Amino acid sequence: MFTSNKPIKDWSDRHVWIIGASEGIGLALGQALKLQQARLSVSARNENRLKDEFSGKARILPMDVSSTENVAHVMDLLIQEGTVPDTVFWLPAVYHPGGVLSLDPEATLKRLNINLVSAFNLFPRIVRYWTKHPLTNKQYHWSWFSSLAAYRGLPNASDYGASRSAISHLAQSSHLELKRYNIDVSLISPGFVNTRLTQKNEFKMPLLMSPERAAQLTIKGLKSGKFETHFPKRLSILFKFLNIIPIDLYLKIMRLLK
Ligand SMILES: NC(=O)c1ccc[n+]([C@@H]2O[C@H](COP(=O)([O-])OP(=O)(O)OC[C@H]3O[C@@H](n4cnc5c(N)ncnc54)[C@H](OP(=O)(O)O)[C@@H]3O)[C@@H](O)[C@H]2O)c1
Repeated sequence: MFTSNKPIKDWSDRHVWIIGASEGIGLALGQALKLQQARLSVSARNENRLKDEFSGKARILPMDVSSTENVAHVMDLLIQEGTVPDTVFWLPAVYHPGGVLSLDPEATLKRLNINLVSAFNLFPRIVRYWTKHPLTNKQYHWSWFSSLAAYRGLPNASDYGASRSAISHLAQSSHLELKRYNIDVSLISPGFVNTRLTQKNEFKMPLLMSPERAAQLTIKGLKSGKFETHFPKRLSILFKFLNIIPIDLYLKIMRLLK
């Protein structure tokens, strides 16, 4: 089987930065990686939530990823201290259910700013630093959280689905560009996970899993060295199949299901 990244089997020599660690999958991932002895830094907007969950266990770096000043300040601080992490998980996302006809342009732009534009706020700063400070004993690693919703258009996915597709594309292009600098890039594509994000959905979500399970599957995926970790398999394999059939057939099937 082909692999694209160096498998991460030991977290005890990693300094992991989880962006979006105050809730949901990021929170569960932080707790799981702490048990695996990773050195942790955690970020999100809600400082109190970060303190409640990670005081004494992680470096707490409150940060709004959509604020250029805020991100630049945190990054400058880490560079000055020489504490820039070697591994980053990128999870920030907000979601508002509804179709394209119900979109409020102003609110949509704000969501897209967090879900997509902000990625370009921190990512270039970190990778530029990483390329100037190469590691000899291991690879740097950036892991993007996207979604199975990224593969093909889904009804009512609107701005959220579009942002996930863009993140998946960015994951692939950045992987290709950064490999030569000893920087690994991976992509995590979950199905439905029970967090405040999906609690807004009124429809029945197939194979809904806990954030703790999603965190375990993420860690297992990085251990395999594969570029993409997708789960749960019963759903993700169906999505992968739907992704390779002709687009007009896909659209016909989706219209019939609607
Ligand atoms: N839940 C699912 O079913 C599911 C499925 C597929 C993919 N995913 C992906 O998994 C990732 C995590 O989702 P989740 O379900 O765990 O969501 P969540 O429970 O709502 O957690 C999102 C995290 O992002 C942080 N965040 C949001 N806006 C931010 C900002 N402007 N600056 C800094 N941090 C910010 C939140 O913290 P603050 O509010 O404190 O800032 C929170 O810690 C997302 O990328 C999502 O697309 C989730």
